[in-house]
Amino acid sequence: MHKRKREALMQRIKGGVAIFPSAPPVMRNYDTEHKYRQDSNFYYLTGFEEPGAVCVIAPDHPEHQYVLFVRPRDPKRETWTGRRAGVDGAKAHFGADEAYPIEEFDEKISGYIEKAEVLYYSFESDEAFNQKIINIFKRANRLRLRGGKGPNTLTDSMEILAEMRLIKDGEELKRVRRATEVSVEAHIAAMKVACPGMYEYELEALIDSIFRHNDGYAAFPTIVASGVNATILHYTTNDCQIQDGDLLLIDAGCEYKYYNGDITRTFPANGKFTEPQREIYQLVLDVELAIIEAIRPGVSIGEPNKKAVELLTEEMLKFGLLEGEKEKLIEEKGYKKFYMHRVGHMIGIDVHDINKIKDGEEHKTFQPGMVTTVEPGLYIPVDSENVDPKYLGIGVRIEDDILVTESGCEVLTAQVPKTIEEIEQLMNQARSA
Ligand code: GLY
Ligand code: MN
Ligand code: MN
Repeated sequence: MHKRKREALMQRIKGGVAIFPSAPPVMRNYDTEHKYRQDSNFYYLTGFEEPGAVCVIAPDHPEHQYVLFVRPRDPKRETWTGRRAGVDGAKAHFGADEAYPIEEFDEKISGYIEKAEVLYYSFESDEAFNQKIINIFKRANRLRLRGGKGPNTLTDSMEILAEMRLIKDGEELKRVRRATEVSVEAHIAAMKVACPGMYEYELEALIDSIFRHNDGYAAFPTIVASGVNATILHYTTNDCQIQDGDLLLIDAGCEYKYYNGDITRTFPANGKFTEPQREIYQLVLDVELAIIEAIRPGVSIGEPNKKAVELLTEEMLKFGLLEGEKEKLIEEKGYKKFYMHRVGHMIGIDVHDINKIKDGEEHKTFQPGMVTTVEPGLYIPVDSENVDPKYLGIGVRIEDDILVTESGCEVLTAQVPKTIEEIEQLMNQARSA
């Protein structure tokens, strides 16, 4: 998979050289790091999971089109911080044409860029490395004045990767499928055991443990929001006790071998929707289904968002949440009072996958192999004015992961109950079992 990606990149940067640093370790507190997670582009191109590395792609180099700079083997340090592939491992196991200790980067990089016209790099990297690239580029510019060769153009590599990452290939889709399968399992398990009296973090613990049991991780901090907490979009404190009569909004997804799932379900903690909850839930569900229905190859990637805004605004007017003219509310974004995010995002090696979805100002169209979420929601804060009190404090989001296929689309996360009947049935079955 990584080799194919490198070859595809080489086709796109002929005459240039691209440099990708690994992700820097991130501190969690004083001297303790977060668990290391490789930079997405770096992983995509190399499969190499260690920090302290740089990947150079040089399509026109006579021998070394793919070079890795890595931390050398060091048995003493490895005892503390884990195994390293080392220079030999980088070649033997990761397919590098040449590899060097990372300490030699500054010295060796000149040999790879001295004949290139363009240097490809993304400044979405750590600042220390960005500075290094500026210095390398400056040095190359000076050499060019004297020697007549070398890069005088610095181009954003992210745009190219973002274009490549838009379509997922066979191995990537296998991983996305697995990530969504595990995410489905976790959501169903949570729906089965959730009940008033539990704390939100107990459900978070259950969900995250199912991810881990399946060789995955939470792709983002799991959101378990009961009652009014559901009206906070990125609620992650998860420390409240769930009350009878609460809706529970759970937004959680598994990352499996770097590929992600992302599901949201909203359901009544006690297994039965109240009438106002039912009304708002059904409204959001109808919008979600209508948007998914319209996704197929050839449809603009901008269409789901447009449709969500239109349909949700119409419904908010019907429910008396908004007043005024639909067109005006859309133009002036009046709907943002209760629906403030976009209706979806591409998903892949990043949860919010960095994908190039526009050509100029126009959206591209959906094509087979793209994976997007669809996640309309409605959030009615308790202090909203001019709203029927029965709706106050209700927050609903429903989110599925959608694979675009040749003939339409496939809802990868369809197995988590979603209709009111399915949800109530599963919850009541689980309770009487
Ligand atoms: N969990 C973040 C999102 O749904 O996009
Ligand atoms: Mn999402
Ligand atoms: Mn989500």
